[in-house]
Amino acid sequence: MIHANENYLKIQASYLFTEIAHRVKAHQDAHPEAKVIRLGIGDVTEPLAPAVVAAMHKAVDDEASRETFRGYGPEQGYPFLRDAIAQNDFRKLGVDVEPDEIFVSDGAKCDCGNIQELFGRNVKIAVPDPVYPVYVDTNVMAGRTGANSGGRYAGLVYLDGNAANGFVPSPDDLDADVVYLCFPNNPTGATATKTQLQEWVDWARGRKALLLFDAAYEAFIRTPGIPHSIYECDGARECAIEFRSFSKTAGFTGVRCGYTVVPKGLCAWTEDGSPVELRPLWTRRQTTKFNGCSYITQRGAEAVYTPEGAAQTKATIDFYLENARIMKEALRGLGYDVTGGTDSPYLWVNVKGESWAFFDRLLKEANVVTTPGAGFGRAGEGYIRISAFNSRENVEEAVGRIAKVLG
Ligand code: MLT
Repeated sequence: MIHANENYLKIQASYLFTEIAHRVKAHQDAHPEAKVIRLGIGDVTEPLAPAVVAAMHKAVDDEASRETFRGYGPEQGYPFLRDAIAQNDFRKLGVDVEPDEIFVSDGAKCDCGNIQELFGRNVKIAVPDPVYPVYVDTNVMAGRTGANSGGRYAGLVYLDGNAANGFVPSPDDLDADVVYLCFPNNPTGATATKTQLQEWVDWARGRKALLLFDAAYEAFIRTPGIPHSIYECDGARECAIEFRSFSKTAGFTGVRCGYTVVPKGLCAWTEDGSPVELRPLWTRRQTTKFNGCSYITQRGAEAVYTPEGAAQTKATIDFYLENARIMKEALRGLGYDVTGGTDSPYLWVNVKGESWAFFDRLLKEANVVTTPGAGFGRAGEGYIRISAFNSRENVEEAVGRIAKVLG
């Protein structure tokens, strides 16, 4: 008899965004005439930058000729892209990350989900609440938790983000071995200052813990002084892995490309206290289970770092940030407290009530899809997340409809 991995039975039947998609489909089926505006999942709407498209077309031509054809590429990514990342995303910040510490992949979601394979079954995991569900669910699947009770898994440590701490939990008195952090934050849109991140790094170094830093939204940071990378903090190379994504930076949600930085010398420990370097482990994991991101995609990602590509992708992010500004101003005008939306594509709105009920109300009465905060954890109850990824026309239309329902 085949035994199932019963850890899967502990998690909710469907992933948050799948559940939302079901509710939206049911609404759309019941009201086929409704023009639904989607401000739920953080999926981009603007097309790829022309410089990226041109680079991908050229890469297709490379694949069409015997002389330039590429088969399997290096699992860790082509040197042309790893060099461009090291130079533009890190050295320009004055941060020391070498190309061979960068592992190109098909996206940050996969890497955030897979990284836990490197850790022992008994490590104590801490996650923020509200939280991007991938950090939690992948550890549940791996058997690191007990049952879910009241929206929380036994064995996980939850770090509450709330209005009182500006949605930036601090490490005070925390007992954990691995901590997931995400800034600019998904779902709250909050950012952490350098002092706050340095506190986390000092805490992690002090107790041989590891920070898993998800920086998928760093390209939205416009406020000077807010760190774009955890490695801007002193000592972070000794205690942090960083995840980055081209999805929101350059519209690659459908194309798929991201990367993970695992610094040389970064260690975990065996039961008997011997250090084990994580970079060779991640190399082994990737070379065994992953065959690399496609050549065409990596050429497209490389083009993000050309002067034209950088200007074009920045213009698109500015466009989404202006969407966020418009919605934030409107919601504040309606009397709602809103976090995020300044250095982030997400608005985190205190709805002064139950979040799934508010989600359903906006869906049914305004034909606008949002994301209920409770779907991100117990501390998300009472909030909804609104994404700024849409056309200006739809954002303005949605703001008008929401004002009519809530005004
Ligand atoms: C979100 O809406 O939270 C993200 O789009 C999900 C993801 O990046 O996987």
